[in-house]
Amino acid sequence: MTSTWSGLRVVVAGGAGFIGRSLVPALLAAGARVRVVDDLSTGQAAGLDGAEIVVADIAALTELPGGAADVVFNLACPASPRAYQADPVRTWRSSVLGTHALALAALAVGARLVQASTSEVYGDPDVHPQVESYAGNVALQGPRACYDEGKRAAEVLLYDLGRTQGLDVRVARIFNTYGPGMATGDGRALPEFIEAALVDAPLRLEGSGRQTRSFCHVDDMVRGLMALAACEAARGIPVNLGNPDERTIRAAAEAVIRLSGSRSVLIDVPAARDDPRRRCPDISRAKALLGWEPEVGFEAGLATMIADLTARKRHAGAGGSL
Ligand SMILES: NC(=O)c1ccc[n+]([C@@H]2O[C@H](COP(=O)([O-])OP(=O)(O)OC[C@H]3O[C@@H](n4cnc5c(N)ncnc54)[C@H](O)[C@@H]3O)[C@@H](O)[C@H]2O)c1
Repeated sequence: MTSTWSGLRVVVAGGAGFIGRSLVPALLAAGARVRVVDDLSTGQAAGLDGAEIVVADIAALTELPGGAADVVFNLACPASPRAYQADPVRTWRSSVLGTHALALAALAVGARLVQASTSEVYGDPDVHPQVESYAGNVALQGPRACYDEGKRAAEVLLYDLGRTQGLDVRVARIFNTYGPGMATGDGRALPEFIEAALVDAPLRLEGSGRQTRSFCHVDDMVRGLMALAACEAARGIPVNLGNPDERTIRAAAEAVIRLSGSRSVLIDVPAARDDPRRRCPDISRAKALLGWEPEVGFEAGLATMIADLTARKRHAGAGGSL
């Protein structure tokens, strides 16, 4: 693959979701011809100007919609715990059977597949920060298992299709990503905190907010995904993409209150089951192979998200939707 995206035919499965809605314009700006394949279960087709939209469930594909492609990104899976736990069998089906169907379709046209895997493959980690060689500490029977194990099974499938059938695959293990355009009302911490802060309502800290996360701005994530897609040396191995700037959920909530000028207070609520206690990527591999590391600092990135949610709230107040 050339280092430029100009003229490449790119399919983005799940392109109508949060990360896809930033990836698609970046690919278009780089000169790619983009086709979004999405069942619109958590995504929205509006606003993806310049891309072709095909409404389809990837688990039901028998071929790549729209014909040949050079690169296929697979982002098609609900990402918020509330969305993926609502129908765990459907989540597992999208993750495993969907990845299988999409990978076979990519293989049939000789396209490279870039898989959106997740830091959740590490479960509740007892190795910190998480390095790609760490096998993880996951709960097979918990409420998060459909997602965590679905993503693990999808990775296995892709490495095996690479070894046995020559599938050209890249695997991004994505850590918590945030930024403008994130859905509201799906239980993810930062949009929940900002929504509450904007109306001076209490911010609810599960498990007292002692658990840590490392938040990566979506602009950095999009750069990382595009660099990974273009990197020959990353073929067939997982690569962590995330921001190693680790903080407690409590500290993140305090930053939201400070930056939004809110009068909200923090309240403690019981911890969610199987919620990982710590999460921080080791990004040595991404730095070495892709020359990539995050550039957007947490407070600057949070400000872009507060501005976005403030504008969307104003629009919703004027009769639009959030
Ligand atoms: N956002 C994060 O912090 C994060 C972290 C780790 C991994 N990821 C992974 O990145 C990918 C994108 O995440 P996101 O935050 O944009 O999620 P999202 O839920 O906003 O977007 C997922 C998109 O996939 C579509 N979709 C779901 N099932 C589908 C199916 N069977 N067929 C076709 N389309 C389907 C949805 O309609 C939606 O547009 C996901 O695979 C997720 O697991 C995200």
